[in-house]
Formats: sequence, C-alpha cells, structure tokens
Amino acid sequence: MIRPRRNRKSPAVRDLVRETTLSPADFIYPLFVHDKDTDEAIDSMPGCTRWSLEGLVKEAGEAHALGIPAVVIFPAIAENLKTSEAQESYNDKGLVPRAIQALKSAHPSLCVITDVALDPYNADGHDGLVRPDSDGNLEIVNDDTVAVLCQQALCHARAGADIVSPSDMMDGRVLAIRESLDAEGHTDVSILAYTAKYASAYYGPFRGALESEPKAGDKKTYQMDPANVREAIRETMMDEDEGADMIMVKPAGPYLDIIAKVKESTTLPVAAYQVSGEYLMIKAASQDGWLDEKAIVLESLTGIKRAGASIILTYFAKDAARWL
Ligand code: PBG
Repeated sequence: MIRPRRNRKSPAVRDLVRETTLSPADFIYPLFVHDKDTDEAIDSMPGCTRWSLEGLVKEAGEAHALGIPAVVIFPAIAENLKTSEAQESYNDKGLVPRAIQALKSAHPSLCVITDVALDPYNADGHDGLVRPDSDGNLEIVNDDTVAVLCQQALCHARAGADIVSPSDMMDGRVLAIRESLDAEGHTDVSILAYTAKYASAYYGPFRGALESEPKAGDKKTYQMDPANVREAIRETMMDEDEGADMIMVKPAGPYLDIIAKVKESTTLPVAAYQVSGEYLMIKAASQDGWLDEKAIVLESLTGIKRAGASIILTYFAKDAARWL
C-alpha cells in the first residue's frame, strides 16, 4: 500500500523531505525612527517602537547579530516639517540620511534599505504630490511626483543606502530612479520595487505609527485594486523592464496567489511584505493566548516563502530569527 505517512513518521524524516525552510537570512526587518532622544512604544502596533537614532542602531545591530541581513527604515517626520511639496523628503541633513549614516558606520555589513515615497513628508499624507486638476478636484499627480522621488532616492544613495525601495506606485518611477542614480554614479545602489502594492486596509496600523494617514481621499488611484491579479503581472513586467533588481508583493498573507503568479512571471528575486495589519492580527490574537504566537508566526512566514517569496519583510523578523 502506498502510505504518504511514511514520509512524516519522525522529525528526521520530516527534515529530509521538507520543501520549504525559513532562515533569518530571508528577512528584512522594518524599523521606525523619529528625531527624538527617547524610544517610544507605538500604540497602533504593540511590540513595535519608534526608535531614537541610538535605539535604531542598537536594535538593528541585535537583529544583524541574529543573522538578519537587512533593515528597512521608516521615518516619523515632525508635523512642522511636512509640506505640500514634501521638500523634507530629499533633505541631505534629514532624519533618514542621518539614520543611514549611523547604521552603516556602526554595522558596515548590514544592508540598509530605504522607503521611497512622500507620505511621511507630505502635508496631505499621500505618497505623491496632491494638486487640483482643471475641475478643481484633488489629484495625485504622477510625473511631478516622480521627479521628487528621484531627488529622494539620490539623497538616500548619497547617505549610503544599499537599496532604495519605491513604495509610491507612480508610473515610470523605477526607470526614472535608475537613470538618476546612474547619472550621479550610484550604479551599485539597487532598486527593490514595490511592484504589486495593493490599496489595502491592512496598512492602517502603520499609518498610525507614522501619523501618515491621507488627510483626504484614499490611495486607490495609485495602489492596486485587491480584486486584480493580471495587473500584478503587468506591473511585474514593467518594473523588470525599467531596471528593478528585486520586486515586491504587498501585503503578503492575503495575497499568496499573487506571490505565486508573480514568481512564475519573473526571473527577479521576489519579496513579500507581511504588513502592519497582518502583524497586528497575530499580536492581538496571541495576546490572550487565543493563538500560539510563535507557531502562527512561523507558519505564516513559511506560507509566504512556500508561495514563492525568497525575501520577507516582517515586523516579526527578530523574534522569528530567535525562534529558528
Ligand atoms: C508608504 C508605505 C506604507 C507601507 C509601507 N510604505 C503605507 C501606505 O502605503 O499607506 C505599509 C506598511 C505596513 O502596513 O506595514 N508608502
């Protein structure tokens, strides 16, 4: 009789036949930073912190020592620095460039990734510039935004970022950023494109962490419709053509089919972002012991990797690295 259970009979046999293994080397650890001297717990994301520069360097160092190769930094920008043209996003003396410098000088082998988008800096809370169209309706303008994103990417590259990661979903930004970086000699700076980024309710806790909610409207004219899969393939082909080095699907858990299909349609490394809402659901359900946090975290990450993501952005990176 054929008995599939023979391949499950002992830990040793299960180890032999396992198709997917997680490693701390798979993770990118997202970290929040603010321009204050103290570390602050984030109300909307229990267990996460807005770090001071000093706290950021220490936390990143601990993660790196656990085998995590990369961090991505998200800045909480002071309200008085937010403007409708988001000039602070390319201030060479701004918070992100200082954070990159601090991280790279303390941990030269750590890969430092930055998020390229205007929402933390924009008085409107949108990823792009907001302007009235000919009828007076507010519009998120594409091409003028891309010009600012290029400035922002250059600012991060000058400060020493290893990878810039445009999360804005404007058209044509990957090519424009690649050309700007190359023109200034940053040919080694990589682009991890948020390729299939959906207009998702799962980003809510993150926007709380940065106080970056859109002041009006939603992000549906630039982020993708959760109902669509073929559009993700189209974005993948375009980002690959425009020179992305790696591509990303976001969120991760509810979009495993997208990860699998994107993986089939590209030869680039595929990343997936287990976003703040996914984090919070697991945190909330395990707080009172309804779910076993460690088991659920490792299972959710295994599922994301099994679907085809070889890189996972997760707020659980440090915990998971410790558990593995
Ligand atoms: C902003 C950005 C967002 C996230 C990463 N970069 C929020 C948004 O698009 O509104 C979300 C991450 C998360 O929810 O964990 N460009």
